[in-house]
Amino acid sequence: MPVDVLLGLQWGDEGKGKIVDFLANKYHIIARFQGGPNAGHTIIINDTKHVLHTIPSGVFRPDVINIIGNGVVIDPIVLTRELNALKALGINISNILLAKKAHLILPTHRYLDAASEASKGKEKIGSTLRGIGPTYMDKTGRNGLRVGDIESDDFRQKYNALKAKHLELGKIYPKIDFDFETEETKWFDCLKELMELQTINCSYYINNALKEGKAVLAEGAQGSMLDVDYGTYPFVTSSNTLSSGVCVGLGIAPSTIGNVFGISKSYCTRVGSGPFPTELNDEVGEELRKIGKEFGATTGRPRRTGWIDLVQLKYTILLNGVNHLCITKMDCLNTFTSIKLATHYKVGGELTKELPYDLDSKSFEIVYEELEGWNENINDIKDFNALPIKAQNYIKFLEDYLEVPVTMISTGPERDSLLLRGI
Ligand code: GDP
Ligand code: IMO
Ligand code: MG
Repeated sequence: MPVDVLLGLQWGDEGKGKIVDFLANKYHIIARFQGGPNAGHTIIINDTKHVLHTIPSGVFRPDVINIIGNGVVIDPIVLTRELNALKALGINISNILLAKKAHLILPTHRYLDAASEASKGKEKIGSTLRGIGPTYMDKTGRNGLRVGDIESDDFRQKYNALKAKHLELGKIYPKIDFDFETEETKWFDCLKELMELQTINCSYYINNALKEGKAVLAEGAQGSMLDVDYGTYPFVTSSNTLSSGVCVGLGIAPSTIGNVFGISKSYCTRVGSGPFPTELNDEVGEELRKIGKEFGATTGRPRRTGWIDLVQLKYTILLNGVNHLCITKMDCLNTFTSIKLATHYKVGGELTKELPYDLDSKSFEIVYEELEGWNENINDIKDFNALPIKAQNYIKFLEDYLEVPVTMISTGPERDSLLLRGI
């Protein structure tokens, strides 16, 4: 069996959680492969809203195994909070497995994240301040602590040594408020609770499952434009969010990758700093924010909004090898009389469908195509042919331009508000 992948094609918050939850009953295993509690994946079931940060979005399907993979960074405090919230709902957490090679976010990683951002002033990344950057820095710097280390005899010593390094490093940054003692006590208490979870060698576990014919879906966090290598660097996260990240994140071979589901909103959002070429700083942008309820699931920050950027999407489809496109929040365009889509960048007088190196520079213009809106409620429609013709045209325009079939159209936040086409 191959490993299918589902990931975001923009700057995050594309609606990955909702779609993974929907698809999860077709899979035996859902596995997160990168990122950490910077993610906020919203799932709405029977009018109840759940937001997951570290736990895969298959957790509301009773028979599905949910793996927190090697490439994920784990904050025991956040994960314990998530587990307790699930337990309170009567959800069986024995289906959640934790990779031994996943790295731990220490309280001092969060402190360094906040202090480093404070030092940047206006240049700040707009990090979620969950300690993501400093934890991945310790991973690649070969200083990190992993889940598999927790029960070793010298864990406390290793912890103290790393904490000492962090405090030393912190001296280069401005002073910030951080209650080290309280956070550390909480962290160690939560570590004990975490030991309730089964820990695994993620690579053997998943490869054995594949041999037994089990279906696996890898769930991306963040979005392709936040990838540390191919995103809008330095305004990115610190992991590889692309389908190529699945192999190292779960310990599987490239040849095992099957379908790649790419998720995009029918418009575009970004939270945090950095370039956003199609951003709308006007009443249309405000309208999108209001209708789409565009406020961060992790930090509550208002999301920046803009029109869909097909040049940007073509780039991330290419990077990921997407063969199924899912358009979410199609219902959010119901009331717009006209809808814009960026189709070209004009650089030095030339039209191009390739993203320029520097997306922040003012040396390009964006060329838009304008389509008529459908001005109808499409929320309960389950058949593509029953959509208003103008809504069908919008989808066909995307398919022609992007050369990938749109096989899922999401028309509301609830689990079943989804129109399927041939899958
Ligand atoms: P994720 O991080 O990619 O999982 O996305 P988030 O959960 O951060 O943000 C997506 C938001 O859009 C959530 O509030 C979802 O409930 C909501 N949502 C997802 N799909 C749809 C949709 O098709 N229509 C509407 N109106 N809301 C949606
Ligand atoms: P999901 O999985 C949207 C953004 C932050 C910031 C940058 C770096 O819910 O789509 P970090 O905390 O990683 O140091 O922040 O990345 N960011 C996200 N934006 N959705 C996310 O996750 C994000 N995770 C990080 O806002 O700009
Ligand atoms: Mg989110």
